[in-house]
Amino acid sequence: MGRVFVSRRVPGRAVELLREAGHAVDVWPGELPPDADALRERLREAEGALTMVTDPVGADLLAAAARLRVVANMAVGYDNIDAAAAAVAGVWATNTPGVLHETTADLAFALLLAAARRVAESDRDARAGGWRTWSPTAWLGPDPFGATLGIVGLGEIGRAVARRARGFDMTVLAATRTPRPDVERELGVERVALPELLARAGFVSLHVPFGPDTEGLIGAAEFAAMREDAILVNTARGGVVDQEALVAALRAGAIGGAALDVTVPEPLPADHALFSFPNVIVTPHIGSASHATRARMAEMAARNVVAALAGRTPPNPVNRPPAPRGGA
Ligand code: GLV
Repeated sequence: MGRVFVSRRVPGRAVELLREAGHAVDVWPGELPPDADALRERLREAEGALTMVTDPVGADLLAAAARLRVVANMAVGYDNIDAAAAAVAGVWATNTPGVLHETTADLAFALLLAAARRVAESDRDARAGGWRTWSPTAWLGPDPFGATLGIVGLGEIGRAVARRARGFDMTVLAATRTPRPDVERELGVERVALPELLARAGFVSLHVPFGPDTEGLIGAAEFAAMREDAILVNTARGGVVDQEALVAALRAGAIGGAALDVTVPEPLPADHALFSFPNVIVTPHIGSASHATRARMAEMAARNVVAALAGRTPPNPVNRPPAPRGGA
């Protein structure tokens, strides 16, 4: 049985599942992630790793982790892992699809509503003693109900957002790479090209994975194409947005606001320009942060480790090592 490194304390039964399968489990005790040296040190002897989005797993680290057979990311996104290099090294990389889309869609909607109805901004003002009277002209914002929502990326999370939008009588546009007429029909979504979506939507919500083809997808030209009252919601990855262009658009009043659960870098420094705008909301990458969902994610990652270390193909691979270390 193998040694498994779990790079943070995790909720649910994940550690028990690993122990029940006979593995020696080493859980990183810190509130903060292991730094690169600590991660390398902990992986040196490990056969399995249960990692977080905060753990960069590149080719160098994989080369130093000679016994490693599986890296199970506790996330649906896995841009922190070089999955191709892992495959070459014979190491499975896995993720957690199908368990966090509803929770992440809830947060996207929470951000959309909060930005439109100025929830965070007015709460800050009330705490600071600014609530002097009910005012017929204060804290006005756009109505989410009946508005046009543009969803960029119609995967599991984008579809879950579209379902929520129906309850708000929204017109839902989607820009997607792959046409899925059945899904579009079922969700009542109109598939349009990105420029049309940007021109029409009062809310733009991003749901694409991060990679070379989505890096900076929303940049200066896209902000120029957006409505002046449009609110950008990002629960995907910070790098999908060109953040300098976003700051410039906010300074110029070219868009109505932004609600961001993901940024570059993470954490976003407290003196970052984005924090200077009252019409910007920043949450600390909490898309999947419900009790039940985080437990499911950790347990799913643990099951992937258990399967790979038993010599089986793990249930949620994101790569296909031609010659897995230790067989499989
Ligand atoms: C979180 O960001 C995830 O990809 O699950």
